[in-house]
Amino acid sequence: MKSIRYLAFLWISTLLACSNPEQPAEIKAPQTPQKTPQQTSKQTQIDHAKDYHSFANPDVVKVSHIDLDLTADFDKKQLIGTATLTYQKVDEQGKTLILDTRGLTILEVTSGNTPVAFELQKEVPNLGSALHITLPEQGNQVSISYHTSKDASGAQWLTPEQTAGKQYPFLFTQAQAVHARSFIPLQDSPQVRVTYTATIRTPKELLAVMSAANDPVTPRDGVYEFNMPQPIPSYLIALAIGDLHFKAMGERTGVYAEPSILDAAASEFEDTESMLEATEKTYGPYSWDRYDLLILPPSFPFGGMENPRLSFITPTVIAGDKSLVSLIAHELAHSWSGNTVTNATWRDLWLNEGFTTYLTYRIMEMIYGTDRYNMEAVLGYQDLQADIAALPENDEILAIDLRGRNPDDVFSNIPYEKGALFLREIEQKVGRDNFDKFLLEYFNHFAFKSITTDQFVSYLDQTLLTTYADVLDKERIHQWIFEPGIPDGAPMPESDAFSKVDTVRDAWLEGSLSAKQINTQDWTVHQWLYFLNNMPQKLNDMQLVELDSTFQLTASKNNEIAHSWLLIAVKNEYKPAYERLYSYLVGIGRNKLVKPLYRELAKTVEGKAFAKRAFEEAKPGYHPLTVHANQGFVE
Ligand code: BES
Ligand code: ZN
Repeated sequence: MKSIRYLAFLWISTLLACSNPEQPAEIKAPQTPQKTPQQTSKQTQIDHAKDYHSFANPDVVKVSHIDLDLTADFDKKQLIGTATLTYQKVDEQGKTLILDTRGLTILEVTSGNTPVAFELQKEVPNLGSALHITLPEQGNQVSISYHTSKDASGAQWLTPEQTAGKQYPFLFTQAQAVHARSFIPLQDSPQVRVTYTATIRTPKELLAVMSAANDPVTPRDGVYEFNMPQPIPSYLIALAIGDLHFKAMGERTGVYAEPSILDAAASEFEDTESMLEATEKTYGPYSWDRYDLLILPPSFPFGGMENPRLSFITPTVIAGDKSLVSLIAHELAHSWSGNTVTNATWRDLWLNEGFTTYLTYRIMEMIYGTDRYNMEAVLGYQDLQADIAALPENDEILAIDLRGRNPDDVFSNIPYEKGALFLREIEQKVGRDNFDKFLLEYFNHFAFKSITTDQFVSYLDQTLLTTYADVLDKERIHQWIFEPGIPDGAPMPESDAFSKVDTVRDAWLEGSLSAKQINTQDWTVHQWLYFLNNMPQKLNDMQLVELDSTFQLTASKNNEIAHSWLLIAVKNEYKPAYERLYSYLVGIGRNKLVKPLYRELAKTVEGKAFAKRAFEEAKPGYHPLTVHANQGFVE
């Protein structure tokens, strides 16, 4: 087995070395992870500043503004209209503007009223088709008439039945990492920042919202105008259309949602305004004017997406007790780490997600106290350990080599939790106040810029590594960023509230305590998760029945607790939970919640057949990303 994998890897390396860097070949992440330590050293030298996931040529011509005029056709499931791009030549000799597209039909390109020559190149898997436009002699704008395909990778068109209200259809886009190109022809690279304006035409009864200035009291007339005056990378352009209504939560914060969940969402997330204020106090003023939330239908493939001014949020975190609101802290924190200071390429994703995860913990501590901070940090650390045990070594590196790979296939806890742990170590070494001051300056220094890992490293060299040369060590920092695993002696989060859970779990497993005797009355959702996530792989039927009948786990309304329990159920083939498992898989499209269940089910023949049935029923309602991520388990 090993030798076959090794041969496959040699083949991949050769392919990568020979392939035209403009047209990376499609290489899937291995389904069964193997440690392949030498993989990167065999490849050609990586160009840190190059975006290997875009065809665009911003070094020759750079787009600075996009004006959209799009009609949402819910019958055809298409966005139809024009994108007018304003550009500047970086190279005076430049003759061609190269854009990214994926599944787009390009009808015409014009400058003024004059047609402009264009050519749509052959499609490359994962990346789409480059659109070459011959620059007109005069002016600095081109208008592209186009429409999207009904199965655009970055858009999901939902039928009324797939929404909370069941009466109106819904559309949402999800551009990160490389899907903006499936609904707008543009330079789809985080190195290119654009301002944008848009006119969106919808059926009259629906409301459109975007990652831009939204007017909560706009007349609902089917024509909506937007303006995003700050330059943003393409992966932050976002649109949603549905039976949306608005409720204010604070002076600068509010929620958009379907009417039946609006009140529940507004009360679940009522601390958003305090989170915003606390973050500003520590890391500097919020740059984006308003901060609103949009609650999506349950098929939204992520927990949240930090679309500027309007984070997109899964409804699966509305638990009724604020237990899962760290997601809001996370998306809010991206307003600093990610949206203001942006990763230059997808190799640098950890600069977005690691800094944001670090900030998330800090915000949660500021609002909910140190016990919660410790519990969440331990749960995050355990997720990290699980990934380190399972992933190939090259995928454990913060500055990951993604050449020839689809960024969607490499999603893991590494950029998040390893990134955050690294920052936590620096914080502990230089002191919290000093580190906060550093972060504030870092956000200012690189504001509205896209930076590479290497730029961050040299900034660190000039700042903290110089000021705190006595406690910081350059080699160790390199180890954190460029080597797999967690360096020895790294911080290890701990929680007293969890130690108590360990004690009773051990006693129950030993048989010295029955489930009924465990005093769970004051347990937080985090303690429940810790209790379940740290059960041994195998439990016997009596134990499973005892847990379920005492704590009603199969019936849990908390989607995270249900997830942890259902995973135990699958590992132990606890059939009384399978009906719930089925409806969970069909009802939720959030990949983090369903993928581990499919992965576990796929390990047995019977489990796989069950997974296949659930997947087939769920598929019409799943987002393309969720289909892509789980399809392999049921084939
Ligand atoms: N920006 C990410 C989602 C993302 C990352 C989409 C990479 C595509 C490519 C978002 O901020 C995020 O991290 N969401 C997490 C939140 C969680 C860590 C609190 C999620 O969806 O689970
Ligand atoms: Zn994030």
